Amino acid sequence: MPTLETTVDGLKLPNPFVIGSGPPGTNANVIGKAFDEGWGAVICKTVSLDAEKVVNVQPRYVRLRSRESNEIYGWENIELISDRSFDTWIDEFKQIKDKYPEGVLIASIMEEYNKDAWQEIVGRCEEAGVDSFELNMSCPHGLPERRMGAAMGENADILEEVCGWVMEVAKKPVWAKLTPNVTHIEDPTRAALKAGCQGVAAINTIRSVVGVDLETLRPEPSVEGYTTPGGYSCQAVMPIALRMCMEISTCIDKEFPGRTLSGIGGVETGNDAAQFILLGADTVQVCTGVMKMGYRCVAEMKDQLLAFMEKHKFETLEDFKGHSLQFFTTHADLVKRQAEARAAKKAAHEKEKMIKEDAEWDGDDFVEQSDALARG
Ligand SMILES: Cc1cc2nc3c(=O)[nH]c(=O)nc-3n(C[C@H](O)[C@H](O)[C@H](O)COP(=O)(O)O)c2cc1C
Repeated sequence: MPTLETTVDGLKLPNPFVIGSGPPGTNANVIGKAFDEGWGAVICKTVSLDAEKVVNVQPRYVRLRSRESNEIYGWENIELISDRSFDTWIDEFKQIKDKYPEGVLIASIMEEYNKDAWQEIVGRCEEAGVDSFELNMSCPHGLPERRMGAAMGENADILEEVCGWVMEVAKKPVWAKLTPNVTHIEDPTRAALKAGCQGVAAINTIRSVVGVDLETLRPEPSVEGYTTPGGYSCQAVMPIALRMCMEISTCIDKEFPGRTLSGIGGVETGNDAAQFILLGADTVQVCTGVMKMGYRCVAEMKDQLLAFMEKHKFETLEDFKGHSLQFFTTHADLVKRQAEARAAKKAAHEKEKMIKEDAEWDGDDFVEQSDALARG
């Protein structure tokens, strides 16, 4: 019987399904619901020391639907980090850990470019009992106006410096959450891991404009007639997330063996999770999927992942983590492999045509059979 249990950076998880930072981890009540439903770990909505600077707008989501089925496949948000006070969060972290001592609670944190602030938030969250950290270096909207979030994550030097500040004081494991809005995801990966982070998490949302209303001629989501580019998530981003997951895992294998990756982006099923793990992820996070399907979806995800493991006779996640990375190569190598395969097929075909006794001569294949027997 396969098991989904896994230990990542010393954190013991009952399964690899983690609530990604966002509305599904936005207060003690919903975090408790996630543990009750069996999620492997919960990352809270990103918290900061001074929530008074965080002012959200309505509406702040836009969903894209399939023309045929009406199913939601894309989701843009212009939501900021948590607007709840830091003191409230500290109380709730304590309450959650009291009620769910075994539950793995990960604090997503974000601060301005200020060493004292980063070190203070780490210390205070640790005192409240959180199990580990995810550094939000990646929100693509709103916060970069204050040089936070993706404004840090897009600059590998700043990212390395800030991760270094955190690593000077953190006693718990730290993942840096990366933005996909960069040309080479290996650059921020190296920066975070060089600074000593135990792992990285990717991807946050992709900077996007989901559309323009053809009646009003206003882009969406329209707030008093205006908008700002947002972050794209949901099923539609999974191919980009998988590509980045593959690149990050390859970089980890070559340069930082033993460090970890939390894969994120469009996960809605156990089979989606299996693909992230095959490309090297240790855990998978789900955010928009929970907003579409509710917390209970984890039960089906777990069953599907177990069924995949049973089918392939994998006992543990480690048995197939990164298995599919070996099948990536260069285009030039694909051309070479194809030429070799075709030549081998032709040779086999010719061998097949080589008659062994006179009864095998055939009127239709006569010339090919003669050819196969000939030299020169
Ligand atoms: C409405 C919404 C709010 C989000 N808020 C946060 C946040 O506060 N901090 C963060 O690190 N990521 C945030 N995210 C990003 C998600 O954690 C995740 O990285 C991204 O949405 C891709 O995964 P998904 O397709 O499973 O949603 C948010 C996403 C959504 C849709």
